[in-house]
Amino acid sequence: MSTQLFNTEVLKAEISQIRQFDEQVSEFGDLIRLTLGQPDFPTPSHVKEAAKRAIDENFSFYTQTAGYLQLREAASDFVKGKYNLDYDPEDEILATVGATEALAATLLTLLNPGDKVIIPSPFFSLYESLVRYAKAEPIFIDTSKSGFQIDPAVLEATMHEHKDSLKAVIFNYPNNPTGTTWDIDTVKSIASIFKKFPDTIAISDEIYSEIVYDQPFISLGEHLRQQTIVINGLSKSHAMTGWRLGLIFAPRYLTEQIVKTHQSLVTSASSITQYAGIEALTVGKDDAVPMKEQYQKRRDVVIEALRLLDFEIAEPTGAFYIFAKIPASFDQNSFDFCYTLAKETKVALIPGSAFGEAGEGYVRISYAASMESITEAMDRITQYVKTKG
Ligand SMILES: Cc1ncc(COP(=O)(O)O)c(C=O)c1O
Repeated sequence: MSTQLFNTEVLKAEISQIRQFDEQVSEFGDLIRLTLGQPDFPTPSHVKEAAKRAIDENFSFYTQTAGYLQLREAASDFVKGKYNLDYDPEDEILATVGATEALAATLLTLLNPGDKVIIPSPFFSLYESLVRYAKAEPIFIDTSKSGFQIDPAVLEATMHEHKDSLKAVIFNYPNNPTGTTWDIDTVKSIASIFKKFPDTIAISDEIYSEIVYDQPFISLGEHLRQQTIVINGLSKSHAMTGWRLGLIFAPRYLTEQIVKTHQSLVTSASSITQYAGIEALTVGKDDAVPMKEQYQKRRDVVIEALRLLDFEIAEPTGAFYIFAKIPASFDQNSFDFCYTLAKETKVALIPGSAFGEAGEGYVRISYAASMESITEAMDRITQYVKTKG
């Protein structure tokens, strides 16, 4: 078939490395998978009850394109109370089909062919695909030498170098895959750098904002309101990945454009899901707290085991991932390390290379799994590293 039939960037795109890895290790039978990028908890029951009510009461019609006003009001109060953000529910908030569609609608709205988008790396792979599909160019900043934090000086130099065609920078804290979070000084530095680049937009993917340990979450939207598009949603905070509810918070000069793309892509987010989302953001505004307590205990078990071995780890202050450097005694790239580990121990981790070149040499461990699985997996990894490493 002629290759001219397709968007060349789609043709070039590979099936995600995570999927490839998953397929390859499935042949090893029953594995303990510390690979999941989603909460292992069920959605809170009161949220499920709300969805049932929505069905019974015939909330079965298209909603407003931006989402039910009541949902946007709930979202506005939620981010005001928790993160000190000020967004008008009338026209500065959009309900989307997951953070995924929020990102797609945002990038399609902003990008023209040839535009550049800075992506700190390692990164969540969707960012690169979306940027490329829009015929724009990703520019990666390797954060592995700075503790997987943005070094403001490097950011500023990179923005300066690409200033003529720079459209946006995508931030993601707490971060997938590294589990790191930014601090207030970094956020303030980023905000002041952006003021020197008034035509560049910060896209801040804050989907893990409710899963931050031992410190408050800081939103870029609080410090750089006029140039920031905040992406969030209920997938991680309320264990609702399959429900597909995302949120965009941005000044109206941005939302009034993004809403058009959003309408063309999906018309609106699901009415039943939105109805449940109102319950989640009001009555369930602290639903993430008990889940976070569990994550934290599991995280500590993983850290303890890794520290006894020779894994260096990035300070895991948020989300439910640990990004660990493969000990030097293993002369393998991350894919081979994970493949052999899965074969020999029946424990699956994600190779760091799935998150860009800067992730090579690392593994991502997800602790969104039961304590029992985690303990068993860490015992097996310990045995393995002690004998083979
Ligand atoms: C950093 C990041 N952003 C966005 C998403 C997508 O979230 P959603 O399920 O709301 O589309 C994920 C999912 O794993 C993620 O890790």
